[in-house]
Amino acid sequence: MKLLITGGAGFIGSHLCDKYTKAGHTVVCLDNFLSGNLMNVRHLLDYRNFKLVKGDIRDFDLLEKLMRDVEVVLHLAAQVHVDRSYIEPRLTYDINVLGTQNVLEAARLYDTRKVIYASSSEVYGSALQVPINESHPLNAPHPYGASKIAADRMCHAYIQTYGMDITIVRPFNVFGPRQRDLGYGGVISIFTRRVLSNVPPMIFGDGRQTRDYTYIEDTVNAYDLILHHPDPIPEPINFGTGSEISIVDLANMIIEFCGKKGQIEPVYVGARIGEVNRLIADATKAQQLLGWTPTYTFEAGLRAYIEWYKKYGFDEKLKID
Ligand SMILES: NC(=O)c1ccc[n+]([C@@H]2O[C@H](COP(=O)([O-])OP(=O)(O)OC[C@H]3O[C@@H](n4cnc5c(N)ncnc54)[C@H](O)[C@@H]3O)[C@@H](O)[C@H]2O)c1
Repeated sequence: MKLLITGGAGFIGSHLCDKYTKAGHTVVCLDNFLSGNLMNVRHLLDYRNFKLVKGDIRDFDLLEKLMRDVEVVLHLAAQVHVDRSYIEPRLTYDINVLGTQNVLEAARLYDTRKVIYASSSEVYGSALQVPINESHPLNAPHPYGASKIAADRMCHAYIQTYGMDITIVRPFNVFGPRQRDLGYGGVISIFTRRVLSNVPPMIFGDGRQTRDYTYIEDTVNAYDLILHHPDPIPEPINFGTGSEISIVDLANMIIEFCGKKGQIEPVYVGARIGEVNRLIADATKAQQLLGWTPTYTFEAGLRAYIEWYKKYGFDEKLKID
Protein backbone atom coordinates (compact mmCIF):
# COMPACT_ATOMS: atom_id res chain seq x y z
CA MET A 1 0.00 0.00 0.00
CA LYS A 2 1.21 3.54 -0.68
CA LEU A 3 0.46 6.17 1.97
CA LEU A 4 0.89 9.92 2.00
CA ILE A 5 1.36 11.18 5.56
CA THR A 6 1.09 14.96 5.81
CA GLY A 7 2.75 16.41 8.90
CA GLY A 8 4.76 13.17 8.99
CA ALA A 9 7.81 14.76 10.63
CA GLY A 10 5.71 15.90 13.58
CA PHE A 11 4.90 14.12 16.81
CA ILE A 12 1.96 11.86 15.86
CA GLY A 13 2.80 11.74 12.14
CA SER A 14 6.31 10.42 12.75
CA HIS A 15 5.00 7.49 14.80
CA LEU A 16 2.65 6.67 11.91
CA CYS A 17 5.58 6.93 9.46
CA ASP A 18 7.49 4.48 11.69
CA LYS A 19 4.65 2.01 11.81
CA TYR A 20 3.85 1.85 8.11
CA THR A 21 7.43 2.13 6.84
CA LYS A 22 8.59 -0.69 9.10
CA ALA A 23 5.58 -2.78 8.00
CA GLY A 24 6.90 -2.53 4.42
CA HIS A 25 4.39 -0.06 2.98
CA THR A 26 5.50 2.78 0.75
CA VAL A 27 5.34 5.98 2.79
CA VAL A 28 5.61 9.51 1.47
CA CYS A 29 6.09 11.94 4.36
CA LEU A 30 5.22 15.54 3.48
CA ASP A 31 6.20 18.22 5.98
CA ASN A 32 7.23 21.87 5.87
CA PHE A 33 8.92 21.65 9.32
CA LEU A 34 6.84 24.43 10.83
CA SER A 35 6.78 22.42 14.06
CA GLY A 36 8.14 19.08 12.84
CA ASN A 37 11.69 17.92 13.36
CA LEU A 38 13.96 16.04 10.99
CA MET A 39 15.17 13.96 13.93
CA ASN A 40 11.71 12.41 14.21
CA VAL A 41 12.12 10.64 10.85
CA ARG A 42 15.86 10.67 10.15
CA HIS A 43 16.17 6.99 11.10
CA LEU A 44 13.66 6.14 8.33
CA LEU A 45 15.74 7.67 5.55
CA ASP A 46 17.63 4.36 5.20
CA TYR A 47 14.44 2.59 4.17
CA ARG A 48 13.92 2.45 0.42
CA ASN A 49 10.14 2.50 0.93
CA PHE A 50 10.28 5.82 2.82
CA LYS A 51 10.41 9.14 1.04
CA LEU A 52 10.66 12.50 2.81
CA VAL A 53 9.36 15.52 0.91
CA LYS A 54 9.97 18.97 2.33
CA GLY A 55 6.95 20.86 1.11
CA ASP A 56 3.73 22.53 2.02
CA ILE A 57 0.07 21.48 1.90
CA ARG A 58 -0.67 25.05 0.76
CA ASP A 59 1.10 24.11 -2.51
CA PHE A 60 -1.65 22.44 -4.55
CA ASP A 61 0.63 21.62 -7.51
CA LEU A 62 2.93 19.68 -5.22
CA LEU A 63 0.00 17.79 -3.69
CA GLU A 64 -1.27 16.88 -7.15
CA LYS A 65 2.13 15.43 -8.04
CA LEU A 66 2.40 13.47 -4.81
CA MET A 67 -1.16 12.15 -4.84
CA ARG A 68 -0.97 10.27 -8.15
CA ASP A 69 -0.75 6.63 -7.03
CA VAL A 70 -1.42 7.13 -3.33
CA GLU A 71 -4.03 4.80 -1.83
CA VAL A 72 -4.36 6.28 1.63
CA VAL A 73 -3.78 9.78 2.99
CA LEU A 74 -3.21 10.34 6.69
CA HIS A 75 -3.66 14.09 6.91
CA LEU A 76 -2.09 15.52 10.06
CA ALA A 77 -0.26 18.64 8.83
CA ALA A 78 -1.50 21.65 10.76
CA GLN A 79 -0.56 24.69 12.76
CA VAL A 80 -1.29 22.84 15.99
CA HIS A 81 -0.83 25.29 18.80
CA VAL A 82 -3.73 27.16 20.41
CA ASP A 83 -1.52 30.01 21.70
CA ARG A 84 0.15 30.45 18.34
CA SER A 85 -3.29 30.68 16.73
CA TYR A 86 -4.03 33.82 18.79
CA ILE A 87 -0.89 35.45 17.47
CA GLU A 88 -1.04 34.08 13.94
CA PRO A 89 -4.70 33.41 13.11
CA ARG A 90 -4.15 33.89 9.41
CA LEU A 91 -1.33 31.36 9.25
CA THR A 92 -3.53 28.99 11.23
CA TYR A 93 -6.49 29.30 8.84
CA ASP A 94 -4.30 29.20 5.74
CA ILE A 95 -2.73 25.91 6.76
CA ASN A 96 -5.54 24.23 8.64
CA VAL A 97 -8.45 25.23 6.40
CA LEU A 98 -7.10 26.03 2.93
CA GLY A 99 -4.33 23.43 3.24
CA THR A 100 -6.92 20.79 4.15
CA GLN A 101 -9.05 21.87 1.21
CA ASN A 102 -6.02 21.23 -1.04
CA VAL A 103 -5.47 17.78 0.43
CA LEU A 104 -9.14 16.82 0.01
CA GLU A 105 -9.33 18.20 -3.49
CA ALA A 106 -6.18 16.41 -4.66
CA ALA A 107 -7.49 13.18 -3.08
CA ARG A 108 -10.79 13.66 -4.92
CA LEU A 109 -9.11 14.27 -8.28
CA TYR A 110 -6.92 11.17 -7.94
CA ASP A 111 -9.63 8.86 -6.50
CA THR A 112 -7.63 8.20 -3.37
CA ARG A 113 -9.16 5.19 -1.65
CA LYS A 114 -9.16 6.53 1.91
CA VAL A 115 -8.39 9.72 3.82
CA ILE A 116 -8.05 9.92 7.60
CA TYR A 117 -8.21 13.50 8.86
CA ALA A 118 -6.81 14.49 12.26
CA SER A 119 -9.49 16.79 13.67
CA SER A 120 -9.30 17.49 17.41
CA SER A 121 -11.23 17.46 20.68
CA GLU A 122 -10.55 21.21 20.72
CA VAL A 123 -13.45 21.60 18.25
CA TYR A 124 -15.90 21.06 21.14
CA GLY A 125 -14.84 23.96 23.36
CA SER A 126 -15.35 23.55 27.08
CA ALA A 127 -17.60 20.58 27.93
CA LEU A 128 -21.31 21.44 28.18
CA GLN A 129 -21.98 17.88 29.23
CA VAL A 130 -19.49 15.20 30.22
CA PRO A 131 -18.17 12.99 28.90
CA ILE A 132 -18.12 14.59 25.44
CA ASN A 133 -19.52 12.44 22.65
CA GLU A 134 -19.39 13.23 18.95
CA SER A 135 -22.78 15.01 19.03
CA HIS A 136 -21.54 17.66 21.46
CA PRO A 137 -21.85 21.17 19.92
CA LEU A 138 -18.73 22.49 18.21
CA ASN A 139 -18.03 25.57 20.35
CA ALA A 140 -14.28 26.12 20.11
CA PRO A 141 -13.49 29.61 21.48
CA HIS A 142 -10.11 30.10 19.74
CA PRO A 143 -8.79 30.40 16.17
CA TYR A 144 -7.10 26.97 16.31
CA GLY A 145 -10.37 25.28 17.26
CA ALA A 146 -12.34 27.28 14.70
CA SER A 147 -9.90 26.25 11.97
CA LYS A 148 -10.22 22.60 13.00
CA ILE A 149 -14.03 22.90 12.96
CA ALA A 150 -13.92 24.34 9.45
CA ALA A 151 -11.67 21.54 8.19
CA ASP A 152 -13.66 18.87 10.06
CA ARG A 153 -16.91 20.09 8.46
CA MET A 154 -15.21 20.38 5.08
CA CYS A 155 -14.36 16.66 5.31
CA HIS A 156 -18.02 16.00 6.11
CA ALA A 157 -19.06 17.95 3.01
CA TYR A 158 -16.62 15.98 0.82
CA ILE A 159 -18.08 12.73 2.19
CA GLN A 160 -21.65 13.89 1.54
CA THR A 161 -21.02 15.49 -1.85
CA TYR A 162 -18.57 13.10 -3.47
CA GLY A 163 -19.07 9.89 -1.47
CA MET A 164 -15.40 9.85 -0.52
CA ASP A 165 -14.12 7.50 2.18
CA ILE A 166 -12.93 10.00 4.77
CA THR A 167 -12.74 9.35 8.49
CA ILE A 168 -12.62 12.34 10.81
CA VAL A 169 -10.75 11.44 13.97
CA ARG A 170 -11.09 13.66 17.02
CA PRO A 171 -8.25 12.74 19.36
CA PHE A 172 -8.27 14.21 22.84
CA ASN A 173 -4.80 15.22 24.12
CA VAL A 174 -2.10 12.85 22.92
CA PHE A 175 1.31 12.60 24.60
CA GLY A 176 4.50 10.63 24.29
CA PRO A 177 8.01 10.60 22.83
CA ARG A 178 8.87 13.28 20.24
CA GLN A 179 6.24 15.79 21.31
CA ARG A 180 7.79 19.26 21.29
CA ASP A 181 9.06 20.25 24.72
CA LEU A 182 9.79 23.93 24.12
CA GLY A 183 7.84 26.96 22.94
CA TYR A 184 4.70 25.81 21.18
CA GLY A 185 4.91 22.33 22.65
CA GLY A 186 2.71 19.94 24.61
CA VAL A 187 2.05 20.53 28.31
CA ILE A 188 3.40 17.14 29.43
CA SER A 189 6.64 17.46 27.48
CA ILE A 190 7.15 21.08 28.58
CA PHE A 191 6.52 20.24 32.25
CA THR A 192 8.82 17.20 32.05
CA ARG A 193 11.61 19.24 30.53
CA ARG A 194 11.25 21.93 33.18
CA VAL A 195 11.08 19.56 36.14
CA LEU A 196 14.06 17.48 35.00
CA SER A 197 15.95 20.77 34.55
CA ASN A 198 14.96 21.80 38.13
CA VAL A 199 12.66 24.56 36.87
CA PRO A 200 9.09 24.67 38.30
CA PRO A 201 6.20 23.86 35.95
CA MET A 202 4.16 26.97 35.17
CA ILE A 203 0.38 26.74 35.52
CA PHE A 204 -1.94 29.23 33.80
CA GLY A 205 -4.95 30.12 35.95
CA ASP A 206 -5.98 28.02 38.96
CA GLY A 207 -4.80 24.70 37.52
CA ARG A 208 -8.22 23.10 37.82
CA GLN A 209 -8.74 22.91 34.05
CA THR A 210 -8.81 19.26 32.96
CA ARG A 211 -7.81 17.25 29.91
CA ASP A 212 -8.08 13.63 28.82
CA TYR A 213 -4.65 12.26 27.84
CA THR A 214 -3.98 9.31 25.52
CA TYR A 215 -0.55 7.73 25.13
CA ILE A 216 0.79 7.83 21.57
CA GLU A 217 0.85 4.03 21.10
CA ASP A 218 -2.90 3.92 21.67
CA THR A 219 -3.42 6.72 19.13
CA VAL A 220 -1.34 4.87 16.52
CA ASN A 221 -3.41 1.78 17.22
CA ALA A 222 -6.61 3.82 16.67
CA TYR A 223 -5.36 4.91 13.24
CA ASP A 224 -4.45 1.34 12.36
CA LEU A 225 -7.90 0.05 13.27
CA ILE A 226 -9.51 2.66 11.01
CA LEU A 227 -7.09 1.89 8.19
CA HIS A 228 -7.91 -1.81 8.30
CA HIS A 229 -11.62 -1.46 8.93
CA PRO A 230 -13.49 -3.15 6.08
CA ASP A 231 -16.10 -0.38 5.70
CA PRO A 232 -15.90 3.40 5.42
CA ILE A 233 -16.47 5.26 8.71
CA PRO A 234 -18.10 8.45 7.47
CA GLU A 235 -18.67 10.02 10.90
CA PRO A 236 -16.39 11.80 13.36
CA ILE A 237 -14.94 9.51 15.96
CA ASN A 238 -13.48 10.44 19.36
CA PHE A 239 -10.33 8.88 20.77
CA GLY A 240 -9.78 9.45 24.47
CA THR A 241 -9.61 7.52 27.70
CA GLY A 242 -12.66 8.92 29.50
CA SER A 243 -10.53 10.02 32.48
CA GLU A 244 -9.79 13.63 33.21
CA ILE A 245 -6.64 14.97 34.86
CA SER A 246 -6.31 18.52 36.13
CA ILE A 247 -3.22 20.54 35.24
CA VAL A 248 -2.26 20.84 38.89
CA ASP A 249 -2.47 17.05 39.38
CA LEU A 250 -0.51 16.56 36.19
CA ALA A 251 2.24 18.91 37.41
CA ASN A 252 2.42 17.13 40.76
CA MET A 253 2.57 13.67 39.14
CA ILE A 254 5.40 14.77 36.86
CA ILE A 255 7.28 16.21 39.85
CA GLU A 256 6.82 12.93 41.73
CA PHE A 257 7.70 10.60 38.82
CA CYS A 258 10.81 12.67 38.05
CA GLY A 259 11.92 12.16 41.66
CA LYS A 260 11.65 15.87 42.55
CA LYS A 261 8.93 15.76 45.23
CA GLY A 262 9.69 18.27 48.01
CA GLN A 263 12.26 20.04 45.79
CA ILE A 264 9.98 21.71 43.23
CA GLU A 265 6.48 23.21 43.41
CA PRO A 266 4.37 24.45 40.48
CA VAL A 267 4.14 28.24 40.02
CA TYR A 268 0.89 29.97 39.03
CA VAL A 269 0.50 32.76 36.47
CA GLY A 270 -2.57 34.50 34.96
CA ALA A 271 -5.16 32.46 33.06
CA ARG A 272 -4.92 32.17 29.27
CA ILE A 273 -7.58 33.95 27.23
CA GLY A 274 -10.29 31.59 26.07
CA GLU A 275 -8.69 28.47 27.50
CA VAL A 276 -11.07 25.51 27.49
CA ASN A 277 -11.89 24.41 31.06
CA ARG A 278 -12.83 20.82 30.71
CA LEU A 279 -12.32 18.14 28.05
CA ILE A 280 -13.19 14.51 28.69
CA ALA A 281 -13.95 11.94 26.01
CA ASP A 282 -16.80 9.60 25.48
CA ALA A 283 -15.08 7.11 23.18
CA THR A 284 -17.95 4.60 23.11
CA LYS A 285 -18.19 4.86 19.33
CA ALA A 286 -14.50 3.97 18.91
CA GLN A 287 -15.02 1.03 21.23
CA GLN A 288 -18.17 -0.22 19.51
CA LEU A 289 -17.14 0.35 15.89
CA LEU A 290 -13.47 -0.56 16.09
CA GLY A 291 -13.00 -2.40 19.37
CA TRP A 292 -10.56 0.36 20.39
CA THR A 293 -9.74 0.79 24.05
CA PRO A 294 -6.64 2.47 25.42
CA THR A 295 -4.11 -0.03 26.73
CA TYR A 296 -2.06 2.50 28.73
CA THR A 297 -3.33 4.00 31.95
CA PHE A 298 -2.35 7.64 32.29
CA GLU A 299 0.18 6.76 34.96
CA ALA A 300 1.79 3.99 32.87
CA GLY A 301 2.03 6.29 29.83
CA LEU A 302 3.48 9.12 31.88
CA ARG A 303 6.10 6.87 33.46
CA ALA A 304 7.03 5.44 30.04
CA TYR A 305 7.32 8.95 28.62
CA ILE A 306 9.50 10.24 31.47
CA GLU A 307 11.84 7.23 31.08
CA TRP A 308 12.11 7.92 27.36
CA TYR A 309 12.71 11.62 28.03
CA LYS A 310 15.53 10.91 30.49
CA LYS A 311 17.27 8.75 27.85
CA TYR A 312 16.71 10.77 24.68
CA GLY A 313 14.80 13.97 25.38
CA PHE A 314 17.76 16.07 26.38
CA ASP A 315 19.91 15.15 23.44
CA GLU A 316 20.12 18.73 22.23
CA LYS A 317 22.85 17.91 19.71
CA LEU A 318 20.34 15.79 17.85
CA LYS A 319 17.63 18.43 17.79
CA ILE A 320 17.38 20.33 14.53
CA ASP A 321 14.50 22.75 14.99
N1 LIG B 1 -1.08 16.16 19.85
C1 LIG B 1 -2.35 16.22 20.22
O1 LIG B 1 -2.67 16.16 21.41
C2 LIG B 1 -3.46 16.34 19.19
C3 LIG B 1 -4.79 16.22 19.62
C4 LIG B 1 -5.79 16.34 18.69
C5 LIG B 1 -5.50 16.56 17.37
N2 LIG B 1 -4.23 16.68 16.97
C6 LIG B 1 -3.97 16.92 15.53
O2 LIG B 1 -3.05 15.94 15.09
C7 LIG B 1 -2.22 16.48 14.07
C8 LIG B 1 -0.75 16.27 14.42
O3 LIG B 1 -0.47 16.96 15.64
P1 LIG B 1 0.92 16.78 16.42
O4 LIG B 1 0.61 16.83 17.85
O5 LIG B 1 1.66 15.62 15.88
O6 LIG B 1 1.65 18.15 16.08
P2 LIG B 1 3.03 18.46 15.37
O7 LIG B 1 3.20 19.93 15.39
O8 LIG B 1 4.11 17.64 15.96
O9 LIG B 1 2.73 17.95 13.87
C9 LIG B 1 2.20 18.77 12.86
C10 LIG B 1 3.13 18.65 11.66
O10 LIG B 1 2.58 19.37 10.56
C11 LIG B 1 3.65 20.04 9.90
N3 LIG B 1 3.08 21.15 9.14
C12 LIG B 1 2.55 22.31 9.62
N4 LIG B 1 2.12 23.09 8.61
C13 LIG B 1 2.39 22.41 7.47
C14 LIG B 1 2.20 22.70 6.09
N5 LIG B 1 1.64 23.86 5.71
N6 LIG B 1 2.58 21.79 5.18
C15 LIG B 1 3.16 20.63 5.56
N7 LIG B 1 3.37 20.30 6.85
C16 LIG B 1 3.00 21.18 7.79
C17 LIG B 1 4.55 20.48 11.05
O11 LIG B 1 5.84 20.84 10.63
C18 LIG B 1 4.51 19.25 11.94
O12 LIG B 1 5.51 18.33 11.58
C19 LIG B 1 -2.62 17.94 13.92
O13 LIG B 1 -3.53 18.05 12.85
C20 LIG B 1 -3.33 18.26 15.23
O14 LIG B 1 -4.28 19.28 15.07
C21 LIG B 1 -3.18 16.58 17.85
